Amino acid sequence: MRTLAACVLALLPLMSFASAENMPATSLNLMPWPQKIQMGSGQLLIANPFSVALTGYTEVRLDHAVARMVGNLSRQTGIPLQTLTAQAANATLVIHVDHASDAVQKLGEDESYQLTVTPNQVKLNAPNPLGIIRGLQTFLQLVQNTPQGFAAPAVQIDDSPRFPWRGLMLDVCRHWQPIDVVYRTLDGMEAVKMNVFHWHLSENQGFRIESKKFPKLQGMGSDGNYYTQAQVKEVIEYARDRGIRVVPEFDMPGHTTAWFVGYPELASAPGPYSIERGWGVFDPAMDPTREETYKFLEEFIHEMAGVFPDQFFHIGGDEVNGKQWNANQKIQAFMKAHNIKSNDELQAYFNKRVEGIVEKNHKTMIGWDEILNPDLPKSIVIQSWRGQKSLAAAAQQGYRGLLSSGYYLDLMQTAAQHYAVDPLTGPSANLTPEQTQRILGGEACMWTEWVSPENVDNRIWPRNVAIAERLWSPADVHDVNSMYRRMYAVSDELAWLGLKHQSNPWKMLERLSAAQEVPSVKILADAVEPVKGYERERTQKYTQFTPLNRLIDSTYPESQVGHTLTLLTDTVITGQASAADKAQIRSIFTAWRDNDARLQPVLQNSFLLNDVAPVSRDLSTLGATGLQALDYLDSGSPSPDSWRAQQSAFLDQAAQHRGEVVLVGVAPIRKLVDATAQARNASGVSK
Ligand code: ACM
Repeated sequence: MRTLAACVLALLPLMSFASAENMPATSLNLMPWPQKIQMGSGQLLIANPFSVALTGYTEVRLDHAVARMVGNLSRQTGIPLQTLTAQAANATLVIHVDHASDAVQKLGEDESYQLTVTPNQVKLNAPNPLGIIRGLQTFLQLVQNTPQGFAAPAVQIDDSPRFPWRGLMLDVCRHWQPIDVVYRTLDGMEAVKMNVFHWHLSENQGFRIESKKFPKLQGMGSDGNYYTQAQVKEVIEYARDRGIRVVPEFDMPGHTTAWFVGYPELASAPGPYSIERGWGVFDPAMDPTREETYKFLEEFIHEMAGVFPDQFFHIGGDEVNGKQWNANQKIQAFMKAHNIKSNDELQAYFNKRVEGIVEKNHKTMIGWDEILNPDLPKSIVIQSWRGQKSLAAAAQQGYRGLLSSGYYLDLMQTAAQHYAVDPLTGPSANLTPEQTQRILGGEACMWTEWVSPENVDNRIWPRNVAIAERLWSPADVHDVNSMYRRMYAVSDELAWLGLKHQSNPWKMLERLSAAQEVPSVKILADAVEPVKGYERERTQKYTQFTPLNRLIDSTYPESQVGHTLTLLTDTVITGQASAADKAQIRSIFTAWRDNDARLQPVLQNSFLLNDVAPVSRDLSTLGATGLQALDYLDSGSPSPDSWRAQQSAFLDQAAQHRGEVVLVGVAPIRKLVDATAQARNASGVSK
């Protein structure tokens, strides 16, 4: 026994090693959570001067990364930090890099790092600069405001990503996203260790990059809203500085109306064409049977392969409805002559030709899951969006794949829903180790039918942080409460960095209400969420010209108050609510109950807000109902059946969306109302 006890005691120091399973043993706001973390004792106080020594391999990208981190630290702490390069022995931060990374960042390059913080010094080691870029973000997240001042706790972190491809796709076509949106999105990606910016550059609704070979692409297909090649090169350099690859997508043969405005001969039906202004799947598609189409693509792809240094070249390939092909006699004759039996086979023929062109330019083709076809070489990559099945199927057939199904930020799902999606679960759970290796990771997708430059930040952030963690951290890091706590902390840090997911909604609410009763408008906005999925397609006819300036556009896809309320409700119902919990839930309900009296006159007089006047009224009733339910629960006596029936009818009505928003309080308040059916003892537990 004694020996056993001695063994256990000897192991104790090791047990402070917070493995993925018992994370987070601490209150650290790291996200993505690192692979291994061991807490030490004490902390390093942030003070001026903050000296940095670069040892081993150095390059200017490391200087930039250090300057960025110290600049952010200085803004965050208010300490006017000076970076003084110092001798390693007495520097605050000692960085060691073994060797350079590749000139063009490669898929699967080592991003690992080791970070050691002691009360006297920080050591950051990595095989190449990518690991340093990742580790500096971890260090920044470690710094907290403590009673002694800003400090990083003593800690030992050994970290590397679970997946080598951790991307964010941005559609800059349906709604044009100016270059500053791209830059700040890259800043956010760096902060959460994402490493692929997938740039969706052409669509029915816009062609968004300058082609010098075919200037009518942007000249006639963009309303003047496109990036010059010089701008794109600067973006690529900026991304490289942050350890982010840039993969362009030119969607073909469908999603191509904007190409046909200037070059109608590429299409499968005669023009003329104009830029598509609405949303949906449209008929125009390239003619895969004409040699001239491939001649054009040879030149175009060659030009773009020269602009984008990344190994991968995305050709889209999604949602071809085949109507133009069916209606074209020449295409039908070609299919017959070549024994092509279906539109899918015709598209596979097209993809094969395009793949040859991409390969000739020393690039690897990637496309949406529609391109999966055994005729294509195993080198291509499949991006799975129509369900996780296609990802597993691709891996089984020998293709590498990426998961995006489940990571569509435009569907207004919760962070928890995205967080639960894992590239290696579901249909992928039973793959062989060799097949599993082919799953490279995933990408969040930001489609922009209902996303303007003004609200793109609040559509991406903070939910994308949860996806970033899913793709970086070990699979067993999946505690949802911990995720939310850290995600909201990182959300604030992203706002301090310059992302506009917190500032723009406030500005939009001020504009909506003509600056009247803005705090009350904010209470309403925080208590609702946008309608989910593709519901907005059904609520009214939208086009590229419809201003995205309503309440729905300025609310978060997921309400933080709603999340808090769900947690508080559970503590109340299980009798575990602390006095502070009870005070907080009452304060939320009271604010809701009292809001409408101030707000209703503003809503009544506002063209932009009067469609949510009934929502505001219901929010007040919800608050009152919530308070009554709490009173019943506190009293210990059950509520009358008639009261519950009345509340239930009200809740059914309040659950309907109006003004394209839904009230987040309905479900938790229904739970509270239902709970009042039972008598409770003094500690609030049902008898
Ligand atoms: C897609 O969402 N059509 C790839």
